[in-house]
Amino acid sequence: MLTQVRRASDETTVADAVTILRRGGLVAFPTETVYGLGADALNPEAVERVFEAKGRPADNPLIVHVASAKQARRFAADLPESARTLMEKFWPGPLTVVVERNDLVPDLVTAGLDTVAIRVPRHPVTLALLEAFDGGIVGPSANTSGRPSPTRAEHVVHDLAGRIDFVIDGGPTVIGLESTVVDCTVAPPAILRKGALTREALEQAIGPLQRPDSNGMSRSPGTRHRHYAPRARVVLTPPEDPERFAAVLKECADRRQTIGLLVHSPALKSLRGSVRTTAVTGSEDLARQLFQALREFDAAGVDTIIVEAVEETGIGATIMDRLRRAAEERTE
Ligand code: TXA
Ligand code: MG
Repeated sequence: MLTQVRRASDETTVADAVTILRRGGLVAFPTETVYGLGADALNPEAVERVFEAKGRPADNPLIVHVASAKQARRFAADLPESARTLMEKFWPGPLTVVVERNDLVPDLVTAGLDTVAIRVPRHPVTLALLEAFDGGIVGPSANTSGRPSPTRAEHVVHDLAGRIDFVIDGGPTVIGLESTVVDCTVAPPAILRKGALTREALEQAIGPLQRPDSNGMSRSPGTRHRHYAPRARVVLTPPEDPERFAAVLKECADRRQTIGLLVHSPALKSLRGSVRTTAVTGSEDLARQLFQALREFDAAGVDTIIVEAVEETGIGATIMDRLRRAAEERTE
């Protein structure tokens, strides 16, 4: 299959993408978080192709992207007040709500669950696409399953060229981490996957959410799977701790490993010994650059990536969630 890559700004891009989606084809699209791999949510064969192209386990449900809250109602059986308030406040934006589904939604999309995840992304061209398509578009991150999510069209091409029909190139995504998935079928609502929208912002809008450590706290099925993994080993060191950082660096160098560094504090930016260093200015910059940096380290062939951790507040909580998973021991 030939994969066409088209600039988001080209006049015919949206119309051509709609044609492909209507034929059951696969179209990767930019959002404010990461690139998604789109297919017609109501076409089970097209949705099946999404799972195949990504190598995604069938027990991991997909998010349905729509143009507006009004469109979201087409797929939901019930919209609790919490969901309505959150949709009103944060859409378009990096929020995915999980609500009861209706019979229109194919089982394949929800992996057999009786809930559906829905979101309105904040990206002008993708919103135009959703409006022109006038339906739901499934959109898992457009990466090979288990790899870092794509924040540039090049990442999508790297992982999926030859397996999908069309890529809309909207340049680098502005946030760089996925949406926050919130279960609105329970009261109070629960965060199933940490994401770009912070717990603090959500709680300001609707009051306290379920505590993360509360008993029976559900997680989104996708968070069970290994994720965000570069080929290289990832080692985390505490924030603002040059001694500890230098010790890990030395240990790796002694073992003759090639090293990539991902750091934010000024004291660490001048450390020598790495094949490649990515220096960021703080948590938001790290969020934006994280997945790109992991991919670049792989391309540079480093053995170990040493990452300086960040404080776990706001977007920092999401960054650390992704980094811990990237650092998990390989099981395969
Ligand atoms: O920012 C994003 O959310 C991106 C862009 C493209 O919109 N999409 C994305 O999709 O990250 P994906 O498939 O990589 O992650 C979706 C997450 C998974 O953890 C999945 O298990 C969870 O949402 N999810 C989907 N449907 C669900 C449901 N009905 N109940 C619970 N979790 C659900
Ligand atoms: Mg994903």
